[in-house]
Amino acid sequence: MRLLITGGCGFIGTNFLYLMRQRHPDWFIVNMDKLTYAGNLGNLRSLEAEAGGSYTFVHGDIGDRELVTGLIARHAFDAIVNFAAESHVDRSIDDPAPFVVTNVLGAQNILDCARRAGIKRVVHVSTDEVYGTLGPEGQFHETTPLAPNSPYSASKAGADMLARAYHETYGQDIVITRCSNNYGPYQFPEKLIPLMFTKATRGEPLPVYGDGMNVRDWIYVDDHCLGVELALLKGRAGAVYNFGGAAEMPNIEVVRTILRLTGRDDSLIRYVTDRPGHDRRYAMNFELAAKELGFAPSVTFAQGMERTIGWYKANAAWLAEVQSGAYLAFMDTWYKERA
Ligand code: NAD
Ligand code: TYD
Repeated sequence: MRLLITGGCGFIGTNFLYLMRQRHPDWFIVNMDKLTYAGNLGNLRSLEAEAGGSYTFVHGDIGDRELVTGLIARHAFDAIVNFAAESHVDRSIDDPAPFVVTNVLGAQNILDCARRAGIKRVVHVSTDEVYGTLGPEGQFHETTPLAPNSPYSASKAGADMLARAYHETYGQDIVITRCSNNYGPYQFPEKLIPLMFTKATRGEPLPVYGDGMNVRDWIYVDDHCLGVELALLKGRAGAVYNFGGAAEMPNIEVVRTILRLTGRDDSLIRYVTDRPGHDRRYAMNFELAAKELGFAPSVTFAQGMERTIGWYKANAAWLAEVQSGAYLAFMDTWYKERA
């Protein structure tokens, strides 16, 4: 398999690259990443050293038509997996524009370059957030109408719609995956779990939005990556597949788990001004992926959290390295406004 991965220096892309290297050492992979604040080339140092000629990094933007066309012409890829995105809801509330540029226009460029070059398959990695929010009951199915509530999820929904349209119009082989909240090693410390870990270890207050009862379905990142691999190898052209972790939990419970694993108590919890448009509950029905792909999450929340918190404890240097000036500037303003 000759594969172009985009956004491989981010959280999920990094985990995907390590996992695929283990499972398919014969694959040739090019990783193209813009290295935004969320992309870290250092994540892949050991993979790069070990993989030799079967892995290449290219610094670039998914919206760059000339670059993507040139890469496809040079490497004759069998497939593209598009992970690249602006991915943080709070940042999309602060400034939606880069989300539209990368998540909509960039994704469209990938679809278009793949179409013109006759690439056999594109896997477009999307999110459960495109469905909007649930009340206390029910689950998202692949047929649930899209009703995104944040600029992030709206931009992801825009790309999903384009992927669907490219399949319908051009007969292009595109598979869309929609996954619930991931956690695991290499997640950028702006997202709930690594952010709360960072604050808990420093003995700083943990900012819980609203009443802390918003529910997310947590999936260990490797289970998501295995789902993407299945979609790539076995997915039906034009299909959408939901992936979930079967681990629905209110945020406050996740925060208490982190406090326990870091030896802290509840006195660090601070309820702060809610995120605007905060989706109340996500829950995924992934029976289609189970039936057509054989997808099943295998890591429980307890196991996944032990591994994740263990990784962050052992990788304090990584956490320090990724907290650059631009990261700190956003975090300071955002949390000052909510205190
Ligand atoms: P991330 O923010 O950690 O990483 C994104 C990566 O994309 C970074 O390496 C960044 O440098 C790169 N990138 C950004 N803009 C780019 C551009 N224009 N061109 C090339 N590279 C660019 O995100 P993540 O959490 O790893 O998410 C990866 C994908 O999975 C995204 O598409 C996201 O929407 C989707 N997803 C994430 C979750 C989750 O819980 N994190 C859940 C479901 C779906
Ligand atoms: P996040 O990790 O940003 O993922 P998403 O918004 O894509 O679900 O947030 C997960 C949940 O945690 C979400 O309900 C918002 C909440 N949250 C807080 O309560 N405090 C925080 O500081 C952050 C970043 C998130």
